[in-house]
Amino acid sequence: HRHLLGIEGLSPADITTLLDLAETYATANRGSTAPEPVLKGLTQINMFFEASTRTQASFELAGKRLGADVMNMAMQASSLSKGETLIDTALTLNAMHPDLIVVRHPQSGAVNLLASKVNCAVLNAGDGRHEHPTQALLDALTIRRRKGRLHRLTVAICGDIAHSRVARSNMILLGLMENRVRLVGPKTLMPSGLDQMVAETTDDMREGLKDADVVMMLRLQRERMDGGFIPSEREYYHRFGLDAEKLAYARPDAIVMHPGPMNRGVEIDGLLADDINHSVIQEQVEMGVAVRMAAMDLLARTLREARDA
Ligand code: CP
Repeated sequence: HRHLLGIEGLSPADITTLLDLAETYATANRGSTAPEPVLKGLTQINMFFEASTRTQASFELAGKRLGADVMNMAMQASSLSKGETLIDTALTLNAMHPDLIVVRHPQSGAVNLLASKVNCAVLNAGDGRHEHPTQALLDALTIRRRKGRLHRLTVAICGDIAHSRVARSNMILLGLMENRVRLVGPKTLMPSGLDQMVAETTDDMREGLKDADVVMMLRLQRERMDGGFIPSEREYYHRFGLDAEKLAYARPDAIVMHPGPMNRGVEIDGLLADDINHSVIQEQVEMGVAVRMAAMDLLARTLREARDA
């Protein structure tokens, strides 16, 4: 693959190859072992048109650990504010010959459009409600490490599914790897036209969590609700917030995940988020660096092959 734009288009073998490589980087990162500088001589530009803590920081760290020259564009201070379009901005940066561009954008499809205009590798760091592929991959790596496998698991994805690119990428990945995916949330926050791979949807947390191996919580994405239904936080927490009582319906060894940023007391009880018997939220962040190292390593190999050909 030339770019990483989404989970859609990847095969189970692609996913396994990437996770196996990420696992070696995770081991190296934990042991503070310096990896081979496989991105040495390459330039990575990070363009975040939307707020980010985890994704931006981990792409930067991942690039630096592998020896890339990493540049973070301050998009708020760029000439976009003077009316330059996304495409003209991309073409301008492309003329400086970067090798890897990492893009987050509030509009679905913006990253694919950008990828069609540049001649370097593009990694989607989240576009609108469309995809967040490296998030689904880091979630998959975390699940595989904790559960010892990435198939035949029951995964409950809970909350604001309609506005979530994380849910969409995870649904595709988990379906590809033959897991049972349940979507749990208010009917008003369920997407229309769900993929056929999704077996079940429910607006009852206890039903949705029953015997789940993995419980994945999502934030209410108010910034994407554009005047539509916005539930009150108290009512939402009562019905859909994950606490110990609701989690008791899942398997006793269920893991609790959250991509962040997390709103304690809205979609998840703060104590549960910190409960190391279930919560793997910090491990997700840790795996984020390893997965992004693996993704950029694999794309750099394709780049080099294309240039040597
Ligand atoms: N999970 C995630 O994408 O977090 P950030 O928005 O902080 O990057």
